[in-house]
Amino acid sequence: MISAMNTELIKVDPMHPDPELIRRAAEVLLRGGLVAFPTETVYGLGALALDAGATRRIFEAKGRPAHNPVIAHVANTEQARRLTAVWPEVAELLARHFWPGPLTLVLPKTAGVPDVVTAGGTTVAVRVPDHPVARALIEAAGQPVAAPSANRSMGVSPTRADHVLKTLNGRVDMVLDGGACSGGIESTVVALCEDGAIRVLRPGLISREDLERVLQIPVFEDGAARSQADQCETNTFNFPVPLPSPGMLERHYAPAAPLMIARGDGRAEVEALSRTGVRVGWLALRDRSVGGTPDLVLVREMPCDAAAYAEQLYAALHDLDAASVEQIVVGRLPEGGEWAAVRDRLQRAAVPE
Ligand code: TXA
Ligand code: MG
Repeated sequence: MISAMNTELIKVDPMHPDPELIRRAAEVLLRGGLVAFPTETVYGLGALALDAGATRRIFEAKGRPAHNPVIAHVANTEQARRLTAVWPEVAELLARHFWPGPLTLVLPKTAGVPDVVTAGGTTVAVRVPDHPVARALIEAAGQPVAAPSANRSMGVSPTRADHVLKTLNGRVDMVLDGGACSGGIESTVVALCEDGAIRVLRPGLISREDLERVLQIPVFEDGAARSQADQCETNTFNFPVPLPSPGMLERHYAPAAPLMIARGDGRAEVEALSRTGVRVGWLALRDRSVGGTPDLVLVREMPCDAAAYAEQLYAALHDLDAASVEQIVVGRLPEGGEWAAVRDRLQRAAVPE
């Protein structure tokens, strides 16, 4: 149990944050406190990465298992390189191309990175976020900021400050409210393995195809990482990470209500459920007709574009939770690599409790 604290909510201009407000937030971090802040993907829950005690408080606030490592957010490539023991050409290429942005690189760590950040592993995850508030905060702190998504462990990540407060009010010192995040789902996590292979541990807004276009070499899907995670202790390719993928944690990104992915657009499932008196939330693709649904159904029409769908997904799930639906039905997604990240999040949300 952690003792309740007062959570200070501060509104900031997302494009031009007031330096005085950022300075106050950085002071909280420098005192070892916790500050939630917007990034271009989702809200992060920040603490000084090099302060083991501060980062440990993130795990307490989130109820996060100690074996799940966190991402160190840095201001630039130089700061990233101080945390990593090697910086291969592929890291340089990816950083130059995608930073600042929703790409996290996993590399062997230097001795100064506390175990709590890496969950005791020998690698560290680093990323330069592309959001004026996040960047200003890291600059003002003058050092790396460890930040997982600002939600209780296993829940739906926050894309707005009110989502953060819903589960972390009284558990963090400060929330910087910079409005809605434009990306909507978490960064792509890529492991640059010692065998030279490049593996997507978590799909995200930057697709495998995007990475291959830049690198001109094959990038492996997280199928490999997942089976590696399953074999954790005995993995065959010698990548020394205790928990390479959140796929190890079965249920993730999950709303309170059970979620099912329909075979088709979802109408048949929605109608059958509501006939039995169940209050249903339906994430329906906008190109389908959603008219004529029973009273017990709450419909959220979702865009047919993958990036726009991603931007709205978590807010839609938070809304359906707030409306206390008993079951969420998701219409089948279009095929295609650009949908991989959204599909991944929905599949993890659909794992039964
Ligand atoms: O977009 C994002 O990545 C957001 C924002 C706040 O930056 N952060 C985020 O953090 O999603 P979190 O903790 O919810 O997810 C980090 C993921 C987890 O799946 C974790 O297992 C993985 O990155 N990870 C962190 N360090 C790792 C490491 N050393 N090796 C392998 N995976 C790692
Ligand atoms: Mg998370």
